[in-house]
Amino acid sequence: MKQIISLGAGSDTRFFRIQDRDHSASTVTHFRGRPDLIYHEIDFPENTAQKLAVVSRINELSECIKPPVSLSSSKGTLDGPVDSLTSLNYYVHPVDLRTLDSSKEPPSSFSTIDFTLPTLIISECCLIYLDPTTADTVALYFTKHLFPAHMPLGLILYEPIRPHDAFGRQMISNLATRGIILQTLRKYGSLEAQAARMRAYGFEGSRGANVNELWEFGVKQPEKERVAGLEMLDEVEEWALLAAHYCVICGWRERLDVDKSEDEEKSEDQKIWGDKKIWRSWERFPEEAGRVV
Ligand SMILES: C[S@@+](CC[C@H](N)C(=O)[O-])C[C@H]1O[C@@H](n2cnc3c(N)ncnc32)[C@H](O)[C@@H]1O
Repeated sequence: MKQIISLGAGSDTRFFRIQDRDHSASTVTHFRGRPDLIYHEIDFPENTAQKLAVVSRINELSECIKPPVSLSSSKGTLDGPVDSLTSLNYYVHPVDLRTLDSSKEPPSSFSTIDFTLPTLIISECCLIYLDPTTADTVALYFTKHLFPAHMPLGLILYEPIRPHDAFGRQMISNLATRGIILQTLRKYGSLEAQAARMRAYGFEGSRGANVNELWEFGVKQPEKERVAGLEMLDEVEEWALLAAHYCVICGWRERLDVDKSEDEEKSEDQKIWGDKKIWRSWERFPEEAGRVV
């Protein structure tokens, strides 16, 4: 079993896309998709309520959720908006990340998170909206407080970088006119700063690339041709400029309780955990693209 926790999941449909893929090797006959994955989403109650209203209406979506499914309201009243979901493979948590506090009890819905599973935490343009201190507090809450240090854990961030060049300055001012302030952008405005951030969060390894590099080195030719066939893009230079201002960075940690000097034990450990880690592909990401190690 593996687990993904998406911070500020919004209307992202990744869980449904993963479960909708054809995994013909699956041994579970009554359930399509990945039986080995548990997915948690966290967002403001207003947003989770909106999402659950859509999911409940559309059969193709609700069929991806493994029963028994339980819907409830974080307001605790029967007629409050349904903003919370539990099931066997999908959990929706109506939680404001800014309220997480390691000196207090975790939100009650977090009791459904399994802190013994290899886990990947995702923040796709979420932590960047919090002020830098709060963003760090939230990340550390997961990496140091909730998950024991000896459990394998990964964190993937997707967010803008390079606020200081001409394009970056224009990007910031365009977003500001729409009331969007990217609060951690200045602090974590380069891949190097992002790598240092991963170390501060307790990750031993990290690798990152801007979206240009990811496209160049991380996407296979047939996929590039498929995408090119979908849409004629004649503003290639502008796209490259924009893509160079977004990055994906992954940090990971191994089991820390294993003495790495004992080679035999280590290789046994790798046998057990190697296949289960969901950031494995990032560890193998081509050197020329993954500039930050
Ligand atoms: C730009 S959207 C990204 C949504 C999604 N991750 C995606 O990639 O499609 C940012 C999301 O972060 C959520 N978010 C921002 N601050 C949050 C907070 N303090 N607590 C919970 N969610 C938050 C917003 O509600 C929004 O859904």
